Amino acid sequence: MRLNDKVAIITGAANGIGEAAAKKFVAEGAKVIVADFDEAGAKVAEELGDAARFFKVNVGDEKNAQELAQFAIDQFGTIDILVNNAGITRDAMLQKMTGDQFDQVINVNLKGVFNCTQAVYPTLKEKKSGRIINTSSVSGIYGNVGQTNYAASKAAVVGMTKTWAKEFGRNGVTVNAVAPGFIKTAMVAAMPEKIIEQMEKTISLQSLGNAEDIANAYAFLASDEAKYITGHVLHVDGGIMM
Ligand SMILES: NC(=O)c1ccc[n+]([C@@H]2O[C@H](COP(=O)([O-])OP(=O)(O)OC[C@H]3O[C@@H](n4cnc5c(N)ncnc54)[C@H](O)[C@@H]3O)[C@@H](O)[C@H]2O)c1
Repeated sequence: MRLNDKVAIITGAANGIGEAAAKKFVAEGAKVIVADFDEAGAKVAEELGDAARFFKVNVGDEKNAQELAQFAIDQFGTIDILVNNAGITRDAMLQKMTGDQFDQVINVNLKGVFNCTQAVYPTLKEKKSGRIINTSSVSGIYGNVGQTNYAASKAAVVGMTKTWAKEFGRNGVTVNAVAPGFIKTAMVAAMPEKIIEQMEKTISLQSLGNAEDIANAYAFLASDEAKYITGHVLHVDGGIMM
């Protein structure tokens, strides 16, 4: 098993991609903190048995992120892997987007990644090893209509990933991002069927991805197999754009 006895915090693990990642990581031998605002995470952790614990967290809250890191240490003794997966959308065309919609997305998708990484990094630095995996998006790489706030946050995640890869490399910590394309989760299910069909036609592999496709990429980047990869943005999008 590729993640034997590693301790991983996965944010946004109550649903969708994060939930699939929690299952994948436990199947690969890891101990997982299912970190989410949504208390459905308690059930996800319960189903995973002794290898998982739920922690209710708002990643946008600095103090809460510190408490999350401490919880992982209290429960499993250390932290090896942080997957900054929690994210939200508040879509609107620019002229209709409110300042509040903009701030909400930035607070979770950008500040949340900053908060959790700042809380976890001291433990990884001390161990001189560790993995940080951030979740960007095709929207952050290519832009997307109606997603000024979301695209900005996900592009910023790429910038932070590369900056931290440079800052943390000397301490044996790798930092990479995964940029999912259109993945079948609640986030995409909310879209009209017709739009989904149109989207599929733009994808080289002609279909949306599954949460497990992203979970597999997280697991690879978290594993020893990826030990010489850092500062990379792995596109897992069925070939939307090349
Ligand atoms: N689904 C896609 O097509 C797609 C595409 C590109 C990128 N992504 C990214 O992948 C990640 C997972 O997305 P998903 O599709 O599984 O979405 P999802 O909505 O199914 O899951 C997101 C999870 O994040 C949690 N969350 C939201 N705000 C939080 C907060 N403040 N603190 C803690 N947890 C919080 C939610 O409760 C939820 O469980 C996100 O970062 C998303 O932006 C998704």
